[in-house]
Amino acid sequence: MIKLPGLIDPHVHLREPGQTHKEDWDTGTSAALAGGVTMLLTMPNTKPPIFDAATLDLALDAAHPKAHCDYAQFLGAGPDNTDWDEHSGLPQRAAGLKMYLDSTFGQLRLDDMTLWQEHFKTWPGELPIVAHSESRSMAAIILMAAIYNRPVHIAHISLKEEVLLIKAARERGIKVTCEVCPHHLFLSKEDIPAISHGHPGRGEVRPRLATKEDVEALWANLDSIDCFATDHAPHTLAEKDGENPPPGFPGLETMLPLLLTAVDAGRLTLDDLILRMVTNPRRIFNLPEQPETWVEVDENTTYELHAADMHSRCGWTPFEGWKVKGQVTRVVLRGSESFKDGKILVEPGYGKNVRE
Ligand code: NCD
Ligand code: ZN
Repeated sequence: MIKLPGLIDPHVHLREPGQTHKEDWDTGTSAALAGGVTMLLTMPNTKPPIFDAATLDLALDAAHPKAHCDYAQFLGAGPDNTDWDEHSGLPQRAAGLKMYLDSTFGQLRLDDMTLWQEHFKTWPGELPIVAHSESRSMAAIILMAAIYNRPVHIAHISLKEEVLLIKAARERGIKVTCEVCPHHLFLSKEDIPAISHGHPGRGEVRPRLATKEDVEALWANLDSIDCFATDHAPHTLAEKDGENPPPGFPGLETMLPLLLTAVDAGRLTLDDLILRMVTNPRRIFNLPEQPETWVEVDENTTYELHAADMHSRCGWTPFEGWKVKGQVTRVVLRGSESFKDGKILVEPGYGKNVRE
């Protein structure tokens, strides 16, 4: 048995308010615990999007009675909320500010760079900013971080050119950090036919699955990658197989087993994993420690990943049938046995807002 600290996932979509047929705070935080995640940060592209005090309260009021694990909620950067006031207390109540600079799922998107600048000027310097920015827009937002001399965290990098640019920026002292998702480490675009089973929508995710060369570059430059994050983006199988399939993969229940399998294969160490799933996210997002919290893993159990065994409401996984080594057997969160042998044992509402 291996004992790990409770994992932190800084990039999760839970769909409540608005789209609870895909996921809600109950099913999503159950999926988290089953995957060894005891704290998660949720994204603002819900319906409605979370971008001011009233919508933040909508999300937090939904979370409060339902969450099984600890959490914080991001605010979204829009064209009409660039005048953040640190004295209002609002920014401090959020996980951070999320900026969508490239095509994504939902309504939040900032095209004009003067809007990026406004957000950088008014969002308090010591609070996190996360950018969904691919390729050249990533280069542009890193320039913004350099100009305003403040940190920016790049969500879900997937390309060789991205990891190499981040590395070069850091060598010059620019305050940029980044995360990578398991699906960009374990899948390339060549895997799309196998994931799709004849339904191309199942291969749709943003950023798109990249080339094998990109995947190899991420592994080769792991020392420039600060965090692992799922970008858990649940959509139902009917939606993925229908017309205009929304992009996104679920990930909370597959991240740790996939990474433990990579540890077993000698591709990274347990220390590499803990650094990127506990130590670094805690530092980057200024998150509290969770006392008496740990994850027990049977490192020798080999089993297959099946959506039918999972807690997420979306009902599918791109890793269906994958053989993995290393199974979460028990999770203790703040002194309470929260998950054991496939079952969630803490009541909805046990989870705490870590920004409160
Ligand atoms: C995300 C979603 O479904 O909310 N989809 C995705 O493909 N990653 C949106 C996002 O993270 O951009
Ligand atoms: Zn996302």
